[in-house]
Amino acid sequence: MTVLITGGAGFIGANFVLDWVAHTAEKIVNLDKLTYAGNLESLASLNNNPQHVFVQGDIGDSELLPKLLAEHQPRAVLNFAAESHVDRSIHGPGDFIETNIVGTFRLLESVRGYWQSMGADGQRSFRFLHVSTDEVYGSLTPQDPAFTEQHQYEPNSPYSASKAASDHLVRAWHHTYGLPVLTTNCSNNYGPLHFPEKLIPLMIVNALAGKPLPVYGDGMQVRDWLYVKDHCSAIRRVLEGGRLGETYNVGGWNEKPNIEIVNTVCALLDELRPRSDGQSYATQITYVKDRPGHDRRYAIDARKLEKELGWKPAETFETGIRKTVAWYLDNTEWVAHVQSGAYRDWVTKQYKA
Ligand code: NAD
Ligand code: DAU
Repeated sequence: MTVLITGGAGFIGANFVLDWVAHTAEKIVNLDKLTYAGNLESLASLNNNPQHVFVQGDIGDSELLPKLLAEHQPRAVLNFAAESHVDRSIHGPGDFIETNIVGTFRLLESVRGYWQSMGADGQRSFRFLHVSTDEVYGSLTPQDPAFTEQHQYEPNSPYSASKAASDHLVRAWHHTYGLPVLTTNCSNNYGPLHFPEKLIPLMIVNALAGKPLPVYGDGMQVRDWLYVKDHCSAIRRVLEGGRLGETYNVGGWNEKPNIEIVNTVCALLDELRPRSDGQSYATQITYVKDRPGHDRRYAIDARKLEKELGWKPAETFETGIRKTVAWYLDNTEWVAHVQSGAYRDWVTKQYKA
């Protein structure tokens, strides 16, 4: 048996591949374009492992995909591939439309062709699992209840609008063609292998480099934080037990304002790698211009997944963030390698005075 994952060299995808190999003996074919966010070094431990087959390519490549599906005959396709960074989508939405919308459409068409060519048993057991985000639901006020799967879609950024569009395409391919799909909408992940353009890894690497810790606006925007390994276990659970055509919200029950996250990271670094001058890393916190259209609050109600499939996160924020900070302290080589020329150009563009 085989599954095919897209975007498996990115942050969540690479964690998923590593967990998959740790938890099962099933082959995993990993299709990734290797954009700036894709990093095969994250999968270096699988270099000589035949259970993992890496293929460089685009989800929108309508010649490659049918060949790949025919060759490997996967029982499931899991779509993680996307442009994922909100700030980049504000600077340049084009790639987000191309990969998240057009790419998902082309992938769905390739998968539909493959699925329709299968025998009845294969068709019945096949799954297309689409990994999406809580950002499609828009922004909450402090009083609003958390997002359930029934919450209306109100995406506010080019990124979230492109993910919302992809969710709608996936839904339509189920409704119209009967493609056996599952969708997950997840909150902010954090953990090992996270590219240091996102809040938590950026704060860790900037703190250690003695650089400012840029907090947007008043720092009181709220996100729900989920340890990446818990997201991976949720996806495995939905893949095996989710009801066809359904959406499952995945969250960590850890709603926190950004400034609290940054202070927690600083306190852990103060404990684990104190600054040589004895001052706290928190002295590096710098308030900067807010993100345009910045969503104020996200919160996830994950009770459907808990009730139907018995999934719960294993980590609290306290345990997960300690593991994360420790991972970055132990993996300075990985960090140095991802801080390539392209990364430095992005940091200059985004945080210029
Ligand atoms: P990431 O940016 O770290 O990785 C994305 C991966 O997709 C990279 O390896 C990249 O090379 C690959 N990719 C991009 N375009 C491609 C294309 N056209 N064809 C093939 N591969 C392509 O993203 P991530 O944080 O790991 O997120 C993975 C998925 O989870 C995304 O769909 C994202 O929207 C969703 N998600 C992320 C979070 C989060 O907190 N990171 C939360 C909820 C949902
Ligand atoms: O909610 C799920 C989403 O979480 C995913 O769909 C996205 O792919 C993922 O990137 C993430 O989006 P966010 O915009 O919430 O993540 P980011 O790490 O970019 O920012 C988290 C919060 O921190 C957000 O309110 C913006 C703020 N922030 C971010 C950066 C990079 C800062 O204050 N300073 C920063 O330098």
